[in-house]
Amino acid sequence: MSERKQYKRYLVTSALPYANGPVHIGHLAGVYVPADIYVRFLRMNDEDVVFIGGSDEHGVPITIKALQQGVSPQQIVDKYHGMIKKSFEEFGISFDIYSRTSNKVHHETASAFFRKLYDAGQFIEKVSLQYFDEANNQFLADRYIIGTCPKCGYDNAYGDQCEKCGSSLNATDLINPRSVLSGNQPVMKETRHWFLPLDQYEQWLKEWILEGHKDDWKPNVYGQCKSWLDGGLQPRAVTRDLDWGVKVPIDGVEGKVLYVWFDAPIGYISATKELTPDWEKYWKDPETKMVHFIGKDNIVFHCIIFPAMLKAEGTFILPDNVPANEFLNLESDKISTSRNWAVWLHEYLLQFPGKQDVLRYVLTSNAPETKDNDFTWKDFQAKNNNELVAIFGNFINRTLVLTQKYFDCLVPQMNGLTDYDLQTIDEMKTFPGRIASSLQHYRFREGLSETMNLARLGNKYLTDNEPWKKFATDPERVGTILNIALQICAELAILSEPFLPFSAARIRSMFNLPAMKWKDAEKGTWLAPGHQLGNPELLFEKIEDAAIEMQIQKLHETKIANETQPTPLKPAKEMIEYDDFARMDIRVATILEAERVPKTKKLMKLKVDTGLDQRTLVAGIAGHYEPEQVIGKQVCILANLAPKNLKGFTSQGMILMAENPNGKLFFVTPGEGAINGADVK
Ligand code: MF3
Ligand code: ZN
Repeated sequence: MSERKQYKRYLVTSALPYANGPVHIGHLAGVYVPADIYVRFLRMNDEDVVFIGGSDEHGVPITIKALQQGVSPQQIVDKYHGMIKKSFEEFGISFDIYSRTSNKVHHETASAFFRKLYDAGQFIEKVSLQYFDEANNQFLADRYIIGTCPKCGYDNAYGDQCEKCGSSLNATDLINPRSVLSGNQPVMKETRHWFLPLDQYEQWLKEWILEGHKDDWKPNVYGQCKSWLDGGLQPRAVTRDLDWGVKVPIDGVEGKVLYVWFDAPIGYISATKELTPDWEKYWKDPETKMVHFIGKDNIVFHCIIFPAMLKAEGTFILPDNVPANEFLNLESDKISTSRNWAVWLHEYLLQFPGKQDVLRYVLTSNAPETKDNDFTWKDFQAKNNNELVAIFGNFINRTLVLTQKYFDCLVPQMNGLTDYDLQTIDEMKTFPGRIASSLQHYRFREGLSETMNLARLGNKYLTDNEPWKKFATDPERVGTILNIALQICAELAILSEPFLPFSAARIRSMFNLPAMKWKDAEKGTWLAPGHQLGNPELLFEKIEDAAIEMQIQKLHETKIANETQPTPLKPAKEMIEYDDFARMDIRVATILEAERVPKTKKLMKLKVDTGLDQRTLVAGIAGHYEPEQVIGKQVCILANLAPKNLKGFTSQGMILMAENPNGKLFFVTPGEGAINGADVK
């Protein structure tokens, strides 16, 4: 089907999402819906195709998340792999396999791949200096180091990026670097790693991409490749000091894994192996057309690094195309998992059950194919109400209702065609080819808009011919009009299937039609006179303002929460010895009396029973509690803190409070049964 080359089969991959969070509309719009449209189209053309997906379960963000939540990385990936897989199923993303990179086949496949390159002397071995946490005896990935941003002074910037000013950084740029693990200042230590000498592939990549794919790769993809290649390629480390991932398969090497971007794309190979024993024909026969669906942040990995790996290995084919999309924003703001600025797929379905196709439609008609685009709830509503309901659904519905009314749900005969009829039939026949061409060239928006034009053609045909005015005088003519309108419905059932698979299935069931092939749409007649149709049901329903307001309100609340809680947890403090801790005399005590300190907002004067004595404490809790709320509470206090004068009262110790990042305070309360004076240690 390519204009460049005849292919026998297709291998379609879609980026493996990181299993460190659920999937959202950005994932769907950028990668999975276009890939699914393409694959469904190929299958309808009887092409031999495999569609590969899976979770990317390695990498530092996953280990960090595990650390933050106090669980194992495996627990994190198990949770999100399950959620992601389910979301894709629910939205009809028709993978032949949805695998995961923590499974055994993948570890074996990635190991063997690395080992083959290693044995063939394809890597450079280099010793370099890397930050190391002596207390935890561990090298630190960039994300494990925080410090002051040299650009803006923000003091919780990460070793690879400052989230305040957005600068991308090197760990060595940070002022006062600290380890996320211990809070200590890391030291520089030598470490050995293996590098893929990308510089040696530069010339070959230039020929393959810059000369070979100038005309068929999308300008955004080609442009990014060109700027990487023009900038010159450097050897790139393919191993990391980390214990989560595919172990470096070299004897005597411990505590090192393959770089996540080395193992993840090999995941496409592992998944194909898992799918079929016949996997090699998809990966090694030059008559296979391989296409990678990805988002723009993945371009360099799929167009430069992975192809260089495949080339180095020597037995694999290369992608024919990498139709990467730009990004989808949400209500004019970048989608962000950490800021919860997203429409999560599992939440969408709770609000809009059964409306998978509505989202697929909106995301395709507004897909970020050539530039970043914006998803807004108002636009979602408008596209549903004015396009799916008013054009597509309306056409199918009125045709069926009229046929039910005049012909008792039986397809009427076609007699005596007018010029208008003939013209309409001719026009109908142009759609399958046009839409096919859009899809073959990865122009999914265009394909969808053509499909809607077919529904528009149907509506206009009915409106212009006014069958409802003619039945009394000319029932035969009405039969012809409805026959043609019904054929358009059947054509729509076929052509809309890649985009709106759930709705296409419903039309087929209303029309008593089997699943059909693309070439059936080219034929022109599918419904024989006398064919029994089912009863009309509404395909799409109007979405009311209230439902949209609710979604907007939800985002508004997220925004407020983000603004009032911008601070992450405080970083870990410096390591201390047990003796430093043991010097603190922490005791259980009960608050006996409490009153606000006059002329202050924050201070409360407390009388507490420490078991040893009764004494006065002055605590900064008046902004959080009323005196009557705290009287009688059992708490923990630091009893041997030197007395301090506060607003005319002497505070003899300090009450222990937990402080959330937003500044809210909570008592630290001993469990049931502790008595006043009990020693906290
Ligand atoms: N996990 C990566 C991301 O979400 C994509 C990996 S694609 C693969 O950006 F090719 F490496 F699998
Ligand atoms: Zn900064």
